[in-house]
Amino acid sequence: MPEILKLDNVSRRFGGLYALRDVTLGIDSGEILGLIGPNGAGKTTLVNVVTAVTPATSGRVAFAGEDITRVKSYQAARRGLSRTFQVVQPFPEMSALDNVAAAAAFSRPGTSLHAARDAAREHLAFVGLEGMAGQSAATLTLAMRKRLELAKALAMRPRLLFLDEVNAGLNTAEVERATGLIHQIAKSGVTIVMIEHLMKVVLNVCTRIAVLHNGALIANGAPRDVIKDSAVIEAYLGQQYARRHGHG
Ligand SMILES: Nc1ncnc2c1ncn2[C@@H]1O[C@H](COP(=O)(O)OP(=O)(O)OP(=O)(O)O)[C@@H](O)[C@H]1O
Ligand SMILES: [Mg+2]
Repeated sequence: MPEILKLDNVSRRFGGLYALRDVTLGIDSGEILGLIGPNGAGKTTLVNVVTAVTPATSGRVAFAGEDITRVKSYQAARRGLSRTFQVVQPFPEMSALDNVAAAAAFSRPGTSLHAARDAAREHLAFVGLEGMAGQSAATLTLAMRKRLELAKALAMRPRLLFLDEVNAGLNTAEVERATGLIHQIAKSGVTIVMIEHLMKVVLNVCTRIAVLHNGALIANGAPRDVIKDSAVIEAYLGQQYARRHGHG
């Protein structure tokens, strides 16, 4: 599978703090990469760097073979890089339908409102929110707003989709439902990078795991190898997890 995304020695500094430090990481087309690590490890920063929300301080990012290190956020989006936000941020007064239609229109400049809403309806149906189309986003439950966030990201017609903790705050049934959607999105040909704290979900969904700690990539490989890695256990998973899975 060809590499769709490549980070070469990427760093992002905030004042004296290295949120990302010399990260070199490739993502193959069709993968579901799990990006894990403790709070503050730099996971969201990595997504922000790639999607040009907070550009890299140094290093290089390439998407589908083209340098995107210095592109603007909307340019990254139109090339096929889409993401959900850890803290969901719909337009609260707008209907669920128009939140998604806005994303659809944004990704296709010159599209009609009618066409954008048609596309939005499809994406809402996919995430199971067709019954909520007319409701303002503010009235939706957290689980629904997370699914709305997913529909918005899909309306951008991504080739590579970053999911930033789409399961945080959801109950078991809601997590199962979201996991099913992620499998379906992957099957449709979208490459996925998912930031996720629930290891059960990571192990169920991801084809590979990359681990960040203090901004540095400390492991990158097959899930069964990464969860046994002593540096990963030390930095993140903990002895309790290792014992429970028979590697302690
Ligand atoms: N805009 C910013 N300005 C200053 N510091 C920032 C900014 N964004 C992130 N940081 C810092 O960079 C580090 C990495 O943060 P980041 O949000 O990427 O972590 P994370 O791995 O996503 O953590 P979490 O699991 O809590 O979401 C943290 O120390 C954070 O405080
Ligand atoms: Mg984060």
